[in-house]
Amino acid sequence: MNDLPHQPVLYKEIIHALQPYNGGRYVDGTLGAGGHARGILEACAPDGQLLGLDVDPQALAIAREILAPHENRIHLAQASYTSLSAQLKRIGWNEVDGIVLDLGASSMQFDTPERGFSFLQDAPLDMRFGPHVPQTAADIVNSYSERELADLIYEYGEERDSRKIARAIVKARPLHTTRELVDAIEAVSPRRGDRVHPATRTFQALRIAVNEELASITEVLPQALASLKPGGRLAVISFHSLEDRIVKDFFREQSKDLVNPPYERIYEVERKATLKEVNRKPFTPSEEEIKNNPRARSAKLRIAEKL
Ligand SMILES: C[S@@+](CC[C@H](N)C(=O)[O-])C[C@H]1O[C@@H](n2cnc3c(N)ncnc32)[C@H](O)[C@@H]1O
Repeated sequence: MNDLPHQPVLYKEIIHALQPYNGGRYVDGTLGAGGHARGILEACAPDGQLLGLDVDPQALAIAREILAPHENRIHLAQASYTSLSAQLKRIGWNEVDGIVLDLGASSMQFDTPERGFSFLQDAPLDMRFGPHVPQTAADIVNSYSERELADLIYEYGEERDSRKIARAIVKARPLHTTRELVDAIEAVSPRRGDRVHPATRTFQALRIAVNEELASITEVLPQALASLKPGGRLAVISFHSLEDRIVKDFFREQSKDLVNPPYERIYEVERKATLKEVNRKPFTPSEEEIKNNPRARSAKLRIAEKL
């Protein structure tokens, strides 16, 4: 992994979860730099194949290079994982053996100042994962009402100071750069000791809103389930509680029979459970992994197996 900035998050756990085998078919819906994808391709060699998706053309270009040794076993597309079913159809795959989704932004995106994801660097307020995304963070902060901004920052950032911050943003408009946004936030929500930077949660909220991240996760999960073979596995890494809750609720709901009506003695099973949770408690990175890659600290991995 020397040519990657660092080992992909929960790398060994992902490979162990998917148990790739020679000849199997796998999907990486969030290719990024291609680290997980490469591990999967190595483990399913010589004949296993992988479909890799990412909305970010820069990520795709890097992944293409990293995965070049496996060129004849990969299908890559600049596409959202929300189009998973259509992408599988396009390459003629009915069912797959494993799917990985490593949600959110990549280190590469955070570390490229001009993408606007980082509050530590001055850059245009962009935050789009890919060029297809219709609005930037600047569009949101400059056009939403104070009330809408407060709700967004509270809901997606779980930020207690959301009202104060929304008021400060509206007062400071127009905002064009990450620095201007950080200044507006710091004016009303100053740094407190060594706790998280006061802009952290607002930046998270804006990123989620710009890229409609939560709606995308909700959209992809049923498609992923429908695309798996019985015994196939879906592994999802999330980085904050809002994402994780969507995955957890979906896995819980699908792992139970749906009974109708639920209150009568003679009842019909309307839908049998479709999956089983491999781990009820999510896997989290080891202390050593967090030491090497602090961004991994909030990662949670949930794995489900199709019945
Ligand atoms: C955490 S990174 C993945 C890192 C990757 N697992 C690796 O080994 O390098 C998440 C990636 O998902 C991409 N992404 C975010 N939303 C997406 C979507 N709806 N469809 C496809 N890719 C998406 C981002 O552009 C980013 O490159």
